[in-house]
Amino acid sequence: MLRNLSDRQVAAFDSSQWEQSRVERWMRIDDIQAVLSPYMLDNPAARLLDLGGGTGRFSDLLLTAYESCSAVVADASELLLSRNQPHPRKTVLYVEASRLTETFGPRSLDVIFVHRLLHHLVGDSYAESLASIQAVLCQCAILLKPHGRLSVIENIWNGRFTDGLAGRLLYCATSSRLLAPVTGRLGANTAGTGICYLSDRAMKRMLGDAGFRVHTQQTLGGFRLPWYIRYPTLLKDARSVHYWCEIAQRLPPC
Ligand SMILES: C[S@@+](CC[C@H](N)C(=O)[O-])C[C@H]1O[C@@H](n2cnc3c(N)ncnc32)[C@H](O)[C@@H]1O
Repeated sequence: MLRNLSDRQVAAFDSSQWEQSRVERWMRIDDIQAVLSPYMLDNPAARLLDLGGGTGRFSDLLLTAYESCSAVVADASELLLSRNQPHPRKTVLYVEASRLTETFGPRSLDVIFVHRLLHHLVGDSYAESLASIQAVLCQCAILLKPHGRLSVIENIWNGRFTDGLAGRLLYCATSSRLLAPVTGRLGANTAGTGICYLSDRAMKRMLGDAGFRVHTQQTLGGFRLPWYIRYPTLLKDARSVHYWCEIAQRLPPC
């Protein structure tokens, strides 16, 4: 069972009040277009899904840049979805990421964007959270056409001694309801709910297990976190990474 964020927590993700140039900087639209545009040249009428697309600002940029494509903004927050600007080629849908295949047909989408969503798919344990992330990636593989692409942006946490330990310790701290007053004060918007950042190695392993191959990997930026977060979590480095993936093999539905 996924732990969903409250309206107060998701409201922090609303970029709809930002000016266009700030949205583009945050979304790193130039980096993403460097890999997306060659694909869109071959597939101008592509059907795009922005999973966890919230207020739809990223889809709005895509609809402006690619004039024949259509986009679905899917999210589990009614609040953020209600802040979407209407567009004739945009559909706004309430979708729980874990139930994607109930909404979309197999092989029906050209590109799925899963930007800064996976780390929110947390359950009541770390293992359950990893299983939720894996299940969503597997569903994405089912929904994509054979030549389709998956675009994942994630906050990657690489640990100092063991690559996955930093993300695991962060999950333990942020998912604890007892520690929520402390983690909240240290800046965790997800205090009491939990956050599941993966290491680069774990992210690639999970993509591979869902049948994807990373075609291009871009580091969109690094985070310099304060010592009181780095030391207790044994964090080596934290960065925002874009994984542009193609389907390597069709695996049986997982
Ligand atoms: C950090 S925001 C990212 C928004 C946008 N994709 C971006 O890159 O700026 C995470 C988004 O995922 C949505 N979300 C969280 N859990 C979800 C779930 N289980 N199913 C669908 N959407 C979810 C939130 O409502 C929010 O819009």
